[in-house]
Amino acid sequence: MKTHRLALIPGDGIGVDVTDAAMAVVRQAAAGRFALDTETFPWSCAFYHETGAMMPEDGIETLRRFDAIYLGAVGWPQSVPDSVSLHGLLLPIRKAFDQYANIRPHRLLRGVEGPLKAEGFDILCIRENTEGEYSGAGGRVHPGRDNEVATEVAIFTRKGVERILRFGFDQARARRGHLTSVTKSNAQKYSMVFWDEVTRELAAEYPDVTVSHMHIDAMAAKMVMAPQDLDVVVASNLFGDILTDLGAAIQGGLGFAASANICPDGSGPSMFEPVHGSAPDIAGKGIANPIAAIWSAAMMLEHLGEVEAAADILRAVESATAQGIGTRPGSHSTDEITAAVLAAMATCPNAPSAI
Ligand code: NAD
Ligand code: IPM
Ligand code: MN
Repeated sequence: MKTHRLALIPGDGIGVDVTDAAMAVVRQAAAGRFALDTETFPWSCAFYHETGAMMPEDGIETLRRFDAIYLGAVGWPQSVPDSVSLHGLLLPIRKAFDQYANIRPHRLLRGVEGPLKAEGFDILCIRENTEGEYSGAGGRVHPGRDNEVATEVAIFTRKGVERILRFGFDQARARRGHLTSVTKSNAQKYSMVFWDEVTRELAAEYPDVTVSHMHIDAMAAKMVMAPQDLDVVVASNLFGDILTDLGAAIQGGLGFAASANICPDGSGPSMFEPVHGSAPDIAGKGIANPIAAIWSAAMMLEHLGEVEAAADILRAVESATAQGIGTRPGSHSTDEITAAVLAAMATCPNAPSAI
């Protein structure tokens, strides 16, 4: 039986609750199919208070030994500035393992009523995950003075832009054959014009994929007005970040939006996490929706080659939501939703036999 080595980083706030939920589901899906070798790392804002760092100095090297990383959520802005916590844990992991493709699916699960009239949308957002607006270049001069200037330089490399667009084209080819490339090339005349050019160059290699170029502002409106017209959407790091919270909203809320940070060439482990954060406003109340985290765990199993287990999980999630479980904020607790998914999986036609 194959063994998958998983590094678990529950993190802060509801990250801990939803990681527990997702791992309970993963363990049940694994039974009789594959073995799990998990190690949990307490890296978080609490760890920062104890040690002065979000993870140990050799944290990245430690993670490198695993087949995949599962992360709950990071951040507790009440006690550690986000610029410290996120730059000390989540963002360095994405970068160190070259997890340049951030895949975020947006569709309505059965039984979930989104805020829109449109129901039949199925969007795969591909967010560039290692450069662009998140490059970390820039600085502040004359801090605190009248002539203070702060810059945040967005760096787009040919390698970075080409590989994320290629990833998007390949996804489009495997789906409904349509790619929407999102920029702001009417206002940003260097990076985004460059992005448009690379999109056109690659489009010539993919004659079977139809391409639309959209500006981020118009795209935000389209995701609300006509999401059913979208298939694969490729966007830069920051634009993809914003669009995927919008995607979460149209699929019923942040409790439903899953995410995979993929290192496509396998040179390092990929990382799986819900789109949402640590939700300090509901942390400790036991009411976080674990579906985004469970869905992200299914994406992890699919990535690890456990396609049947991943499909079982998604079927079980939809069987729970079809019964109205977890479909409205606060209607069910984290534990109730998890229990419903586990129960649905136990009766699922493809579940492995108990013997
Ligand atoms: P958030 O996603 O944590 O919360 C936004 C809103 O959505 C809140 O009202 C919250 O209660 C709700 N929400 C989120 N997840 C939910 C769930 N599973 N079930 C029900 N409701 C849910 O965003 P924020 O408040 O801007 O950020 C809080 C902290 O998390 C910050 O430190 C932020 O930087 C961090 N953050 C981390 C990640 C990550 O680790 N991947 C992602 C986003 C934000
Ligand atoms: C996300 C989050 C992170 C991001 C933050 C917490 C740095 O919002 O994963 O969507 O912007 O990538
Ligand atoms: Mn985000």
